[in-house]
Amino acid sequence: MKNREIILTKRPDGEPTREHLQIREAAMPQPAEGEVLTRLLYVSVDPYMRGRMNEGKSYIEPFKLNQPMEGGAIAEVISSNAEALKKGDIVTGSLPWREYVSLPAADLRKIDPSLGPITTSLHILGMTGLTAYFGLMDIGEPQEGETVVVSGAAGAVGSAVVQIATIAGARVVGIAGTDEKVQFVKQLGADTVINYRTEDVGQTLAKACPNGIDVYFDNVGGPISDEVYPLLNKFARVVQCGAISSYNKKEDTGPRIQQYLIKSSALIKGFTVGDYRERFTEGFRHLSKWLGEGKLTYEETITEGFDNIPEAFFGLFKGENVGKQLVKVNDPSGK
Ligand SMILES: NC(=O)c1ccc[n+]([C@@H]2O[C@H](COP(=O)([O-])OP(=O)(O)OC[C@H]3O[C@@H](n4cnc5c(N)ncnc54)[C@H](OP(=O)(O)O)[C@@H]3O)[C@@H](O)[C@H]2O)c1
Repeated sequence: MKNREIILTKRPDGEPTREHLQIREAAMPQPAEGEVLTRLLYVSVDPYMRGRMNEGKSYIEPFKLNQPMEGGAIAEVISSNAEALKKGDIVTGSLPWREYVSLPAADLRKIDPSLGPITTSLHILGMTGLTAYFGLMDIGEPQEGETVVVSGAAGAVGSAVVQIATIAGARVVGIAGTDEKVQFVKQLGADTVINYRTEDVGQTLAKACPNGIDVYFDNVGGPISDEVYPLLNKFARVVQCGAISSYNKKEDTGPRIQQYLIKSSALIKGFTVGDYRERFTEGFRHLSKWLGEGKLTYEETITEGFDNIPEAFFGLFKGENVGKQLVKVNDPSGK
């Protein structure tokens, strides 16, 4: 059996490309006491990984040069030296981009397949869903009849936010980058969806929000968000979840927002999902209930093959995914 890994060879200045990542052979690990040997099945590629490719202080350690990239993944236990897990168990955790990995059983969580397809643990029943739930419900606090605007609305987090805001009885306006995505977000329950690449966002947004904006769930930042601030209602809430439009830029300037925050007495709050670690069970309970009741659905864009993990990751910055971008590396054995 051969083993391979994808390492960070160079820190990007702008867009990440193949120049920054390399596939190389790796030793086949042996599980020590308390460890399991796993075979990679699915990898989640996420925008935040771009930040980890940079040096410098952040809420999470930078990736190390000449070491594998890592992140949320699903794997199958192929041999076990730990009581908690056995051969054949399907597990999730933060794993290196490596085909075979040995690691402590305590760092892995066994997936309960009765809750849904195993891949849901990497999105709607995982960090993505929890990000949408806590960002929207805890910071956004949408009330019935209020207008919620969601940028990046067809993405993994955005598509969950659109649906949770709809469940909360809000009127949802989405913003996304293709006509196909506009249709998708409408199907999720949004009242109006704007294609920011083909429409004038300021004008269309003003028309779509005649009563102003009460909650802005921001996944993208940049020029799209600049058009939202002037429309904020008194006591509006801005949920600063992401700013993908800036991740590949060294500097990013835009209109000043302070005057709009003062005029509207609006709250803007950034967060990372980890802030809510102690409440994950609560979030998970709501998400799995809504999923089971058919109130919540999801879309996946699945790229096939370990070699294609980098391209799937790069595609996030080009808008190539609808819903959650995953990479399928292997089927579980026996399938
Ligand atoms: N705070 C947290 O704890 C937390 C947790 C998870 C994710 N996030 C953030 O939430 C955001 C969404 O993450 P996700 O995992 O759900 O990714 P995603 O939305 O599924 O994928 C990224 C999407 O961003 C859009 N995009 C890319 N470049 C853009 C640009 N320059 N301007 C506008 N839109 C652009 C693309 O869609 P279009 O075709 O519509 O452009 C793309 O499909 C990211 O900013 C991420 O960093 C934050």
